[in-house]
Amino acid sequence: MSPALPALRHYLQFSDLSAAEYAYLFERTAVIKRKFKAYEKHQPLADRTLAMIFEKASTRTRVSFEAGMYQLGGSVVHLTTGDSQLGRAEPIEDSAKVISRMVDLVMIRTYEQTKIDRFAQHSRVPVINGLTNEFHPCQILADLFTFIEHRGSIAGKTVAWVGDGNNMANTWLQAAELLGFTVHLSTPSGYEVDQSVAGIRSGQSYKVFADPMQACEGADLVTTDVWTSMGFEAENEARKKAFANWCVSTEMMAAAQPDALFMHCLPAHRGEEVAADVIDGPQSVVWDEAENRLHVQKALMEFLLLGRL
Ligand code: CP
Ligand code: NVA
Repeated sequence: MSPALPALRHYLQFSDLSAAEYAYLFERTAVIKRKFKAYEKHQPLADRTLAMIFEKASTRTRVSFEAGMYQLGGSVVHLTTGDSQLGRAEPIEDSAKVISRMVDLVMIRTYEQTKIDRFAQHSRVPVINGLTNEFHPCQILADLFTFIEHRGSIAGKTVAWVGDGNNMANTWLQAAELLGFTVHLSTPSGYEVDQSVAGIRSGQSYKVFADPMQACEGADLVTTDVWTSMGFEAENEARKKAFANWCVSTEMMAAAQPDALFMHCLPAHRGEEVAADVIDGPQSVVWDEAENRLHVQKALMEFLLLGRL
């Protein structure tokens, strides 16, 4: 609500920022993370308020946004469907108009992407996607920063996606198109990525493999996600059957580059989408990946509210 706000920008999908803006955000994240580790105060968002709206469960997204905003000097309002008028059918447009007059920034975790798009269209302040059925851009932001920390630039590298053609897979495809890497996609039949839902322009940044082992061959990063995402619980039993061969195993990791990393956005189900030996093994960087949600989102909130510093 400060008159010094930069032009209104939302972060609703990965493609909302340019490659140059991502380069800036990754540099800024490293600075913010270093300050955090050194217990150095960094409070550029003093007096700013973040509203967090959760229509689905969360651990990492809630803690990272809430702790992150306090660390930046601001404060947080936490809303869920059950404890607000959102659950009693107040139109999303009206909610957006009201909430965005009272806070400086809004983070939403919800179902259809159209819902967050409608909220953003009627919001006076930046809106951040904290996960929808279609996308999870904050997670991919953290995953990319984690890759860069461990291995350097991801440009020209290969990421193997083993599992559901879901919000994470869609967002990986947007990132590959923008940042110049390739995704090897292996999903069970009937659970493929839909390029039009993923919102990518061409099929050049990904290759499809029927066999997950082949998708992993030569990959620099192997990644997966739950077989059943939030909102799809009714399909759980059918999915368990369909996905039985899409468990990231030590054999799949052995097919990848010798220094390949393993990532999972968490929460994970050991023995379903990933073997315990892999997620708890030496190539796994899942805890760094989870921690980095905090640091990348602090950089993102700072960027959306203050622009480049
Ligand atoms: N990865 C992730 O978004 O975790 P939560 O569902 O716990 O927020
Ligand atoms: N694809 C998962 C990610 C959870 C963080 C879901 O949408 O439930």
